Amino acid sequence: MIIRGVTSDRFNNDKYKQMNTLEEVEKQGFVTAELEKEKNLVEEIARLKKEKNAVILAHYYQQEEIQDIADYIGDSLGLAQEAAKTDADVILFAGVHFMGETAKILNPTKKVIIPDLNAGCSLADSAPTDKFEAFLKQYPNHTVISYINCSAEIKALSDIICTSSNAVKIVDSLPKDAKIIFAPDINLGKYVQKKTGREMILWDGACEVHIEISADKLKLLQGKYPNAKLIAHPECQEVVLNDANFVGSTTALLKFVEEDDATEFIVATEVGIIHKMKQAVPHKKLIPAPAVTNNTCACSECPYMKLNTLEKIYASLVHLQPEIFVPEETRLKALKSVNRMLELS
Ligand code: 13P
Ligand code: SF4
Repeated sequence: MIIRGVTSDRFNNDKYKQMNTLEEVEKQGFVTAELEKEKNLVEEIARLKKEKNAVILAHYYQQEEIQDIADYIGDSLGLAQEAAKTDADVILFAGVHFMGETAKILNPTKKVIIPDLNAGCSLADSAPTDKFEAFLKQYPNHTVISYINCSAEIKALSDIICTSSNAVKIVDSLPKDAKIIFAPDINLGKYVQKKTGREMILWDGACEVHIEISADKLKLLQGKYPNAKLIAHPECQEVVLNDANFVGSTTALLKFVEEDDATEFIVATEVGIIHKMKQAVPHKKLIPAPAVTNNTCACSECPYMKLNTLEKIYASLVHLQPEIFVPEETRLKALKSVNRMLELS
């Protein structure tokens, strides 16, 4: 079996292979590797993991087959905690770029690799460093709380990081009269404002996947399944959150379907989470929330998370590329804000 293009014979010596690999990373953002015909992809990934002392951390939005081979699956907070404490030599992060960066910030002596550098995040991209720096200058004496879905540079400019599982707690931990900037997700920011009763300065960023969840189509689904509880991720728009029976991070949504008495749920977040939910509550009906744009899955999929494949994971483990680097000065500043979150979690 050949994985996304053959490494030609002329590169069959280590020096050329290394050059070829770096060229691939530069040109396409991921590496390729051959798999002999008789070998099994999943078994080879397991073998390489052992050989290189690597751990695979995967987000709930990853494809099912990736979740199935991961050593740990979780939400952004759980994944950061896991990355901080692993003693593996290599962290393969099956998620998106900012997650790999967070792992490197927390555990810099490890080699952190991600299967595809193109796996970015619209929310992280909504806060470019120069614009964010200029924005902060308008609001001196404010505490800057940034959602973990941002670049290492934005983390370095922030005072505390939060995730969707601890945002309310972190805002509440500040003195009542604290002036707060909340970035980059405006929907999570509005939700936290409501929950805490605090006014915050909000950066106008959003997740392109969660804001695409259609309130109109949800209404139709609720009509079709009148007993179903609507559960939603706080990156969704206010109109969806206002209607939800429960709002929480991916881990909190999973826990809710496990513990709640209802047997039908409409799940307003990226569809990948349904895989773990189905395993946890096979007897319950789980209906993915549809996107505004009509698509074949009638669900909401993150195009960045879905760039990762088992083939790319295999190739990443063969070459230990593409690797994540964070400049040390940025890392040390970012570490302070990430650690403040971990201490409060
Ligand atoms: P959580 O898994 O922390 O809920 O975050 C969801 C998300 O959009 C990650 O990119
Ligand atoms: Fe970013 Fe949204 Fe994709 Fe999460 S689901 S990685 S926030 S674009």
